Amino acid sequence: MVLIAPSLLAADSANFEKEISALEDAHADLLHFDVMDGHFVPNMTFGSHVLKQLKKCTKIPFDVHLMVNNPEKFIPWFAEAGADYLTFHLEATSHADELIDTIHQYGIKAGVTLKPSSDIKLLSQLKKIPDLVLIMSVEPGFGGQAFISDTPQKIVMAKNMFGRNTLIEVDGGINEQTARLCIDAGADILVAGTAVFKNGNYCNNIKILKGEKL
Ligand code: DX5
Ligand code: ZN
Repeated sequence: MVLIAPSLLAADSANFEKEISALEDAHADLLHFDVMDGHFVPNMTFGSHVLKQLKKCTKIPFDVHLMVNNPEKFIPWFAEAGADYLTFHLEATSHADELIDTIHQYGIKAGVTLKPSSDIKLLSQLKKIPDLVLIMSVEPGFGGQAFISDTPQKIVMAKNMFGRNTLIEVDGGINEQTARLCIDAGADILVAGTAVFKNGNYCNNIKILKGEKL
């Protein structure tokens, strides 16, 4: 069964507590928390202080996606603030194996990801096994973009590279149609901003993405 991780980037940030409570009622599996530094990607979002506050509102695990330069500096901040999954970009570091170890030392799950233009084969250079591989299906930085069509092939490649203990997550441009393509390719987790938060019916929107009957 695929898991759905609503992206808080698309939530009403003036009412996070209300939004998270509605996502609990809608049975969201994870909360996707996009961290952008204005350097690695052109946009900026939330810091670790916001995560620390939001952790008090919910038991849903936080899936933190670091889109930052120098992830070595930020990983301790977000681990201590309560990340349950902590994912960094391989383009932003030359110490990926050490960072996977650092994340594990906090007792949380380690994820790695790549921009869509980066060679997926970079994943095979890892010596440590990540708990999660995030396939970016849009250019990181903004919500509401169109799904990049070669993503399902990348899901299959990533699936074949790692064992069953590594979850494959997809982020960007997920809707009813593209969710189906990703599920069929073997994705374990789908991140969705626009498709969950549109029209206010989070419960139905999540069911639709899972391919469940309404
Ligand atoms: C993009 C972010 C995504 C984004 C997805 O940089 O990593 O998590 O919120 O938004 P949608 O689902 O609208 O494409
Ligand atoms: Zn993301």
